[in-house]
Amino acid sequence: MPWKRRPFNSLDLARALNIAQLREIARRRVPGFAFEYVEGGAEDEVTLRGNRDALERLRLIPQTLIDTSARHQRIAIFGRLANAPLIIAPTGLNGMLHPQGDLALARAAARLGIPFTLSTLSTTRLEELATRAGGRLWLQLYVLKERAIARDIVQRAGAAGYEALVFTTDANVFGNREWDRRSYRAPGRPTVRTALDMLRHPRWLWRTFVTPGMPRFRNLEGYLPPSATTALGGATVIPPLFEPTIQWDDITWIRQLWRGRLLIKGVLSVGDAERAAALGCDGIVLSNHGGRQLDYCVAPIEVLPDIRRAVGQRLTLLIDSGFRRGTDVVKALALGAQAVMIGRATLYGLAAGGEPGVDRALAMLTTEIDRVLGQLGCNSITELGPQLVHDA
Ligand SMILES: Cc1cc2nc3c(=O)[nH]c(=O)nc-3n(C[C@H](O)[C@H](O)[C@H](O)COP(=O)(O)O)c2cc1C
Repeated sequence: MPWKRRPFNSLDLARALNIAQLREIARRRVPGFAFEYVEGGAEDEVTLRGNRDALERLRLIPQTLIDTSARHQRIAIFGRLANAPLIIAPTGLNGMLHPQGDLALARAAARLGIPFTLSTLSTTRLEELATRAGGRLWLQLYVLKERAIARDIVQRAGAAGYEALVFTTDANVFGNREWDRRSYRAPGRPTVRTALDMLRHPRWLWRTFVTPGMPRFRNLEGYLPPSATTALGGATVIPPLFEPTIQWDDITWIRQLWRGRLLIKGVLSVGDAERAAALGCDGIVLSNHGGRQLDYCVAPIEVLPDIRRAVGQRLTLLIDSGFRRGTDVVKALALGAQAVMIGRATLYGLAAGGEPGVDRALAMLTTEIDRVLGQLGCNSITELGPQLVHDA
């Protein structure tokens, strides 16, 4: 008889051993439409799967018989120490997964000593987060149709003390997430099945919708009519606000407005990376938006070595899309990324168990990174290099 392994089917955070198991708890804790919002990719989800495939294809080549008892994973990002080579990526609508979702993520990041990036489409106002969260805060910027909104948000972020601005450029046209759309009869109008599913999650419904009121795009309050800033109302109003005219001139414009660190998120070619450096950006995030925008898009890890070679040390290189394990992170660092942005992995933690769930997701990743460093024969991130990676 072949040995049959038992799948993970606990709801207990303490029993989850990895991000996949946190995802399993998250899947059962929140209604299907909220989980689908997190999970889904664009169209045939080839980009989404490709992100994992590309990371899984890479194999590690360990160095043996090296004393690794002094290992640590501290790195410098923009001249300041971070306790792990991780940054929490910007994700909109975090309040739909857990009340105070942004705050939970930001506080967990601060506790670990890594930056947190707040989305333009967050459910916490950027000023409120700055007063309540602590730690290193970055703000992600969408330049929407009305350029004055972006100008105002940039100024507000400066006044609130944000360290970096992350201008997301791969959402000039909103992605076609078909699985997500199936949860709604029309934009913002849940199907009967979705409504019933919400009722089947009374704890979630009470904590995230009833007590605090429906999650709202708090950063956009004041720019849009109140009905357009609710999670459901915004579904009709927000996608058309994405701006197909954003272009390189906007970088020059934002560079003049913003004195802090400036990153472009969504760069995937050598030419674009060089242009970002030439226009005075401090860094770029190699990203395909976690497979939510262009389908059949290259995985960031596939273009990382070429981009690192081209820009040398002129830019801080960050990467995201598909990172779920310490081995994934170490592969990217070895191929030239300075740090990895984490999207869904920490959202699974948030949906599974609020702030302790995010702590747990981060602890899993850092424990895994530490173990992999040791097994590769490295004491620090600076010892990683492309010689440790084999493209199978
Ligand atoms: C639910 C969700 C919401 C997101 N919202 C935003 C956003 O508002 N702004 C942005 O720049 N990226 C957004 N992203 C993309 C993430 O910043 C990041 O690029 C992506 O999640 C990385 O892939 P991963 O989830 O596989 O780690 C979102 C991603 C998810 C999963």
